[in-house]
Amino acid sequence: MRILLFGAGGMLAHDIIKVFDRDEVVVSDLKAVGDKPTFITDITNFGEVKELMHKVRPGLVINASAFTDVDACEDDVDLAYSVNAKGPENIAMACKEYRIKLIHISTDYVFDGGAKEPYKESDLPSPSGMYGKSKLAGEIFVAKNLKERYILRTALLYGINRDNFVSKIYAKLKNNEPITVPDDMIGSPTWTVELAKMIKGVYRTHKFGTYHAVNTGYCSRYEWAQKISELSGLKGEITPIKSDTLKTKAKRPLFSALDNSKLRAIVPGILSWEDALSGFISELKTKK
Ligand SMILES: NC(=O)c1ccc[n+]([C@@H]2O[C@H](COP(=O)([O-])OP(=O)(O)OC[C@H]3O[C@@H](n4cnc5c(N)ncnc54)[C@H](OP(=O)(O)O)[C@@H]3O)[C@@H](O)[C@H]2O)c1
Repeated sequence: MRILLFGAGGMLAHDIIKVFDRDEVVVSDLKAVGDKPTFITDITNFGEVKELMHKVRPGLVINASAFTDVDACEDDVDLAYSVNAKGPENIAMACKEYRIKLIHISTDYVFDGGAKEPYKESDLPSPSGMYGKSKLAGEIFVAKNLKERYILRTALLYGINRDNFVSKIYAKLKNNEPITVPDDMIGSPTWTVELAKMIKGVYRTHKFGTYHAVNTGYCSRYEWAQKISELSGLKGEITPIKSDTLKTKAKRPLFSALDNSKLRAIVPGILSWEDALSGFISELKTKK
């Protein structure tokens, strides 16, 4: 199968390319992806998106591109909506025109975090920051324009291709630096390799719709950091703090755990967040 991957230089896309290694993955991003032949395309430009789809004629498009800097989205709302809402709309409209299926990646930040138990797909989104608002608009545009599409909401991604919570805690533990992390921010950590497998699994089902695509279970950032220490065998000083002491620009959901049972019912083998983390720690240990 020929797959067209937008945002191919990103953290998730790196592992999509790895997991879909038996398929032909055509890569596209704003700039060249390593030494891979890359179609330079800005998803906010409908003409560019349409021309690329016409040229490549893929069987499947995966949109892993986004403006993911949550605080920067507060400063540049136009860019946030342009990349996270207009971009997916452009991709969905072009997919419709050429009858191509789409997998679009969204986020737990479409929820406000006021829940007491993991969010289901049937829960009403109500984002509090510009990142979540722009991503929700993207979901709506995709759903409105295309029937044959999967919208996969994921959360707290970590992978080998970019710094993230896990790699930063791991580095601090290695350097014996003290660590402070909130114990009141709760979510579903998800390894990009695992999400890439979920993408592959759901595509095979032909059951289009919106899914929560995360590793199973949830934890606080404090519990997450403790588990990183335990699994890596690196002991360190980890102190719980409250998230309101962090003073970030964007308001983040406190409880944004996602219930993945709808996806688990059709895609077997989704790991718990602890088992996925263990796999990533092994990958980190063999790096360089
Ligand atoms: N990271 C997380 O914890 C997390 C959590 C929940 C959901 N998600 C979602 O998961 C998906 C993948 O996230 P990620 O962390 O892998 O993202 P990422 O590493 O930030 O990668 C996003 C890619 O999209 C590219 N891009 C930005 N603007 C573009 C444009 N106008 N046209 C084409 N490409 C553009 C970026 O290029 P530049 O680097 O040059 O800007 C980058 O290569 C996104 O949809 C994100 O919203 C992520």
